[in-house]
Amino acid sequence: MDASLKVNRDEVVAGLGGEEAVRGMDHDARADALEEFLSGRLDAIVAAGQRGKEYATVAELADKVDTRGYRRGIGKLFMHDRNVQNPDADKPGKTVRRLAPMPAKPTLIDFFKLRFPPAAHLLQSARLARKNGLSEEIVLACLVHDIGQYLCFTDHGYWGAQIVEPYVSERVAFAIKHHQALRFYPDPSVGYGYPEGYLLMFGTDYVPPPHVQAAYSYARNHKWYMDARMVTTNDLYAFDPSVVVEIEEFTDVVGRHFKQPKEGLGNDNTAVSHMWRTMANPDAPL
Ligand SMILES: [Fe+2]
Ligand SMILES: [Fe+2]
Repeated sequence: MDASLKVNRDEVVAGLGGEEAVRGMDHDARADALEEFLSGRLDAIVAAGQRGKEYATVAELADKVDTRGYRRGIGKLFMHDRNVQNPDADKPGKTVRRLAPMPAKPTLIDFFKLRFPPAAHLLQSARLARKNGLSEEIVLACLVHDIGQYLCFTDHGYWGAQIVEPYVSERVAFAIKHHQALRFYPDPSVGYGYPEGYLLMFGTDYVPPPHVQAAYSYARNHKWYMDARMVTTNDLYAFDPSVVVEIEEFTDVVGRHFKQPKEGLGNDNTAVSHMWRTMANPDAPL
């Protein structure tokens, strides 16, 4: 694990929000911010080490690219079911599922029932947000925060925010979009640390690229920061497989805060209708 504990200047500066953010800090603020940034990642590395886990570096992960028959960014609807934490996920011979037909005028609930299952992560995030007493808008944001992943894992927060933008409040779309960047940055004030899963997915020495640093700085100083942050604090990897949450638990929230188009998602001629059609028909050859 030694290599993963090495700290380089670029990584630290990136972790603090970039050169400009660091220049604006006094000495004490820099020291606090450094500690805050590192503590999340170090906690995750130490916890992994205690369980005997060794995670790869960025370079080691890059070396695996041509050992797979797919790219890691491909959306869930276009691949066999997989789980990045499942060591068998890269084995050949897996097949995709046959999908049930969609109704003529699909609703968000129809997508949850027919295209997103099991969607346990989304449903449990939403339940947790509700249990934590968050607003109905944040519960909805948590419910759909990763739906971009059905199309594309890469930049999924941006895809996800765009897919729902015509149907939700600006605030909900903001929270979904910016959870993407905030996931990389600890916020001890709300008990959020660097995710251990990111050590696995990105490598122990990963440095978020400049656009992620910029998005973090922007969101960190935005009046809706806490909305986006709440999506990350309710965004759990370690959900309980014995708990089954049904979408019906959220029909009230969806009904009040998701403007379901009467023509059906995909048929309403918005700038994102094709995205819903693509999710409805991922077997279409063109
Ligand atoms: Fe996410
Ligand atoms: Fe998530």
